[in-house]
Amino acid sequence: MHASDEFRKRIAAAPFSAVLGQGRVKEELKSALLASRHIILVGPPGVGKTTLAREVAQLLPQRESAEKGKGAPQPRFVRVQGSPDLTAEDLLGDIDPIKALEYGPLSTEAFTPGKIFKADKGILFFDEVNRCTEKLQNALLQALEEKRATIGGYDVDFPVDFVFIGTMNPEDSSTEKLSDVFLDRFDLVTMGYPETAAIEHEIVTQQRQEIEGVAMPDALQLKVIAFIRQLRVDKNVDKKPSVRASIGVVDRSLTTALLRGRRIVAPEDIASVLPSVLAHRMSLKPSVKYLEQPEEYVRKQFETFSREHDLEGGVP
Ligand SMILES: Nc1ncnc2c1ncn2[C@@H]1O[C@H](COP(=O)(O)OP(=O)(O)O)[C@@H](O)[C@H]1O
Ligand SMILES: [Mg+2]
Repeated sequence: MHASDEFRKRIAAAPFSAVLGQGRVKEELKSALLASRHIILVGPPGVGKTTLAREVAQLLPQRESAEKGKGAPQPRFVRVQGSPDLTAEDLLGDIDPIKALEYGPLSTEAFTPGKIFKADKGILFFDEVNRCTEKLQNALLQALEEKRATIGGYDVDFPVDFVFIGTMNPEDSSTEKLSDVFLDRFDLVTMGYPETAAIEHEIVTQQRQEIEGVAMPDALQLKVIAFIRQLRVDKNVDKKPSVRASIGVVDRSLTTALLRGRRIVAPEDIASVLPSVLAHRMSLKPSVKYLEQPEEYVRKQFETFSREHDLEGGVP
């Protein structure tokens, strides 16, 4: 999409404040958007990719709905979930061959528009592009590059204009490799976990639940976060716990403390929610996973961490 001057100005000035930290990512994203590039955000789940793309959508001018003055404004953010089952018809649309002869292939009678058309003048957010088949990658490329596609035997031109932001998780092994031809058309912006424990603490504080009558002391929450961040760099851990895991542990510790009649979360509340909140969100390297289940591993690691960081006695 060729950015309008207004959109460019807004991009350049955008703080993207829903995403804390990630200064380099924001700068790269802005520069790619200003250059009208197609973008793929690369990173593990739960680092703020969707949140960031939604913020870009906020900057686009509000669209008129199809019939002037009627109904809600059209969404500026259209999301497609990449999967091996996604077809070119889902993405581009479907042409009824008989009606096409009579009314023309892109007539309202013959053509059922796909997601790409819904994204016109907005953002096409394509989650996990690397889960799509190579055939679909090619159809998408043609639509993006040439604004043409072949549907049901017809070559049609797409009068659509949008910002493309895709995501991929490089650690997701269940996926297709993106072809070189595909990757050559995109700029990749890599995104990781929050840069510091302090930033992650702020994210969790903003997004955790408010549970009346129970408090999570800052010092204890920082220790929860330090523990999760330690698991992320643990050489035995393969799939790493995300920011959602940090938020989840804090939320559940608060509600567990409530059930136990406590006014302040205690380390044992945290310990007791780990199997349910944390263990399934991670996996262990093959060298350890045949010896130990994640639940057991997390429990032991937390015990050691508690001892080393004086969790039992140190927090009021
Ligand atoms: N840097 C960050 N700033 C603010 N929130 C974040 C950040 N990183 C992760 N989150 C939070 O983590 C959760 C997952 O974010 P999301 O945008 O859905 O991630 P992704 O699309 O990468 O899976 C959300 O609750 C989001 O607000
Ligand atoms: Mg997402």
